[in-house]
Amino acid sequence: MSQKRIIVENLAKNYKNGRANLVALDNVSFSLNEGEDMAIIGPSGSGKTTLLNLIGGLDRPTKGKVIINNQDITRLKDKELSKFRNQTIGFVFQFFNLQEYLKAYENVMIPMLFAGIKPSKAKEKAEKLIESVGLADRENYYPRQLSGGEMQRIAIARSLANDPKILLADEPTANLDKESAQNVLEIFDRITKDSGVSVIVITHDPNICKKFKNIIHIRDGKISKK
Ligand SMILES: Nc1ncnc2c1ncn2[C@@H]1O[C@H](COP(=O)(O)OP(=O)(O)OP(=O)(O)O)[C@@H](O)[C@H]1O
Ligand SMILES: [Mg+2]
Repeated sequence: MSQKRIIVENLAKNYKNGRANLVALDNVSFSLNEGEDMAIIGPSGSGKTTLLNLIGGLDRPTKGKVIINNQDITRLKDKELSKFRNQTIGFVFQFFNLQEYLKAYENVMIPMLFAGIKPSKAKEKAEKLIESVGLADRENYYPRQLSGGEMQRIAIARSLANDPKILLADEPTANLDKESAQNVLEIFDRITKDSGVSVIVITHDPNICKKFKNIIHIRDGKISKK
């Protein structure tokens, strides 16, 4: 039987704005196995990014647990949490978040340098990763010299730098044309099947949603049936 990679238990997040209390996420529970993928779909403002950021340890919940590989990450101290993120989670963002003054391969090296990997080794691996997303001939380009689809593939190469167990992607195809989006989804599919990575993708697009084994609908901070 597959191992549970992610368990989300009664997760809640409130934001305080002055006196007002906004419930962004309300008692959300689900789990995901290793080597499986999941799409999160729901209207704007429903809590999707909030949920993904809590799973990735970018933010802390008001209530509930996020258990990853049998460890409740909400109990980790800040320093332990950032180490955990660096080693276990890959993030892909809607607007790529590449460093504009660094070349493509240097962007991919960053998480490895943070992890203490030697620059020569990091460079070698960055080149391999860039090759695996089909952009070997672009490794010396700066982000501004790349198309949106190419930037997103470099961002994916970066997210895989430290061989994450989990890939979290927030609308990774929203700014891409159909072919580039297809390309990105194929890469996600490959790492799920070949490396047992658990992939969670937020999307607004029902056609993209259909390609995922698990789908959860979020509405007003809660999991809804549809
Ligand atoms: N830092 C914050 N402080 C206060 N309120 C916040 C904060 N971040 C998010 N919110 C609120 O929480 C709710 C959920 O936001 P979230 O970003 O998770 O939505 P989303 O489903 O990702 O929306 P979209 O599809 O537009 O990206 C929104 O009402 C938002 O205004
Ligand atoms: Mg969002």
